[in-house]
Amino acid sequence: MIPQAFIQDLVARVDIVELIQRYVPLKKAGANYAACCPFHNEKSPSFTVSPSKQFYHCFGCGAHGTAIGFLMEYAGLGFVDAVEDLAHQFGLEVPNEGPRFDGASHTQQRSLIDLMSSAARFYRDQLKQSPKAIDYLKRRGLTGEITALFGIGYAPDAWQSLEQVFSKYDDPALVEAGLVVTNDTGRRYDRFRDRIMFPIQDQRGNVIAFGGRILDSGEPKYLNSPETPLFEKGRELYGLPQARVGIRETDTVIVVEGYMDVVALAQFGVGNAVATLGTATTPTHVQKLLRQANRLVFCFDGDKAGRKAAHRALEAALPHLADDKNVSFLFLPEEHDPDSFVRERGAEAFQAAAQDATQLGRFLFDTLIEDCDLISAEGRARLIHLAKDYIPKIGAPNLRVQLVRELAQASHVSPEEAAQGLGLAIAKPSRGGSNRFGERKPPPPLPRAAVTPLERKLLRVLLAKPDLSGKLPLSLLSALPDNPERAALIAVVDAGEDGTLIGAPLGAWLEHFRGNPHENAIALALRSLEEGFVDAEQIDQIFQDTLTELELGQTSAEISRLCANPRDLQSEAAKEKLRELFEKRVLLEKKQKLRSGQSV
Ligand code: GTP
Ligand code: MN
Repeated sequence: MIPQAFIQDLVARVDIVELIQRYVPLKKAGANYAACCPFHNEKSPSFTVSPSKQFYHCFGCGAHGTAIGFLMEYAGLGFVDAVEDLAHQFGLEVPNEGPRFDGASHTQQRSLIDLMSSAARFYRDQLKQSPKAIDYLKRRGLTGEITALFGIGYAPDAWQSLEQVFSKYDDPALVEAGLVVTNDTGRRYDRFRDRIMFPIQDQRGNVIAFGGRILDSGEPKYLNSPETPLFEKGRELYGLPQARVGIRETDTVIVVEGYMDVVALAQFGVGNAVATLGTATTPTHVQKLLRQANRLVFCFDGDKAGRKAAHRALEAALPHLADDKNVSFLFLPEEHDPDSFVRERGAEAFQAAAQDATQLGRFLFDTLIEDCDLISAEGRARLIHLAKDYIPKIGAPNLRVQLVRELAQASHVSPEEAAQGLGLAIAKPSRGGSNRFGERKPPPPLPRAAVTPLERKLLRVLLAKPDLSGKLPLSLLSALPDNPERAALIAVVDAGEDGTLIGAPLGAWLEHFRGNPHENAIALALRSLEEGFVDAEQIDQIFQDTLTELELGQTSAEISRLCANPRDLQSEAAKEKLRELFEKRVLLEKKQKLRSGQSV
């Protein structure tokens, strides 16, 4: 666990402008900085970075966040990685860094990365000196340019050629990095010999493993690095750093099976492909990729193995689906893999095929139906039975509803019966709790006036100027309807109370709420704030006005409560109390009138 205080401190101390500038050219625009948004395609800049808030926001696509959020979105890093990356970029040490991957410390990882990068350089140099390796790559149709882009190299045909790079060949770190193997007799030798070397990089571009292909034929065709403290197969994807621009430009990532597929596609201008590393697609892969693009196309060979791989990918994708994401499956003609296809038919044909790929919902149905005889009652029952392993796992609520309907149609039952067959809860539509097909939903909101509700206004104001939270009496909030915005307000006031966040930029506040139940309400409020729903000059005044309005509401409610029961009003004390309340109300109303008169 990284301490919250460190995260807040980090957000407050790093310069978000400096950080983003490293990836996106920013231009000064008033108090802020602007650029064309790196998260969607646009011609005129609607991406802004605010140094005072330590926050970025795009008016075009709504992307927004802190320095940490930027690294997560832009480089596709997970939260912990983003924090570490940011800290290291700005020369800060992350405290309390728990052990990662089998207890490898950060320094240990760093030194393994250095070893790997030296090895990669060595293999690249060796390629230049090996006519037979160069000849092989030429025969495979690779240009020098693409070979360099992917850092492809050659491991010489010798037992200990790495001795030329590492003076300490018996360094246990070489074994740990998977570069050197020890046999039963304790003899050490290079793992990769006489192979074309494909360096596998993490998202930041560090070499963390290799895939080594045999020249021409032989077994095994590919030899990969073992899992090491740096390399976990189910997490990594080949070609990710090279594909980053292509993925961003197309908002699409294409997943293929082989190293050669990625490289050939890139050479022919399809720059947004990555490959799994000879393993099945994992949910982690899907999650990682859907963070970087809204469209994910799995491209597998047309043979039986390809269909099986697609099926595994489908299963991995289900929990990470969202209604604004699109996952599809492209099956190439049986004689082709992406490499041969793009060489024979060109990039445009490949892109067109990717565009036409089978949508996940369709592919799921086709696969399920293949196994069921829908003419018989048994077959239709079986369809529902089979679907139970898939449809309930779908993370996209609307897609799930659609598929339940489709399933109902195919199996001749009502949608409710289909949902029931899938074990999805069906609630009475009139009650809160969960909706028709198993999605939990909050209780229906109270009827609202067309004007911005107070709690929403107040939340925006607090986010515009978080330090005001100290001036908001929690007791006043009880007058507000019980909804997520009020809950978020209370949480903001709470967060302000321990003092550490006072004076911190907005970004630090946002990080405080990351992954917390109020994140959503806060993100919405922030969006309207960024879109100018609150006049920045008037924040303090708006805050005062909302306080007055709240107080007025509370006073009127108390008056009604007292008057509702005239018997309670018989004592002198009660009468006195009521009189005070009336006076208070008059005062508050005056205050309000005065203000509205001023502002007209
Ligand atoms: P080429 O045959 O050179 O075109 O390579 P390819 O990338 O098209 O290979 P293929 O389609 O046969 O395999 C796809 C991926 O599976 C490869 O890129 C490797 O990651 C993996 N793979 C293939 N063969 C082997 C093997 O023998 N051992 C291991 N560990 N992985 C393999
Ligand atoms: Mn191939």
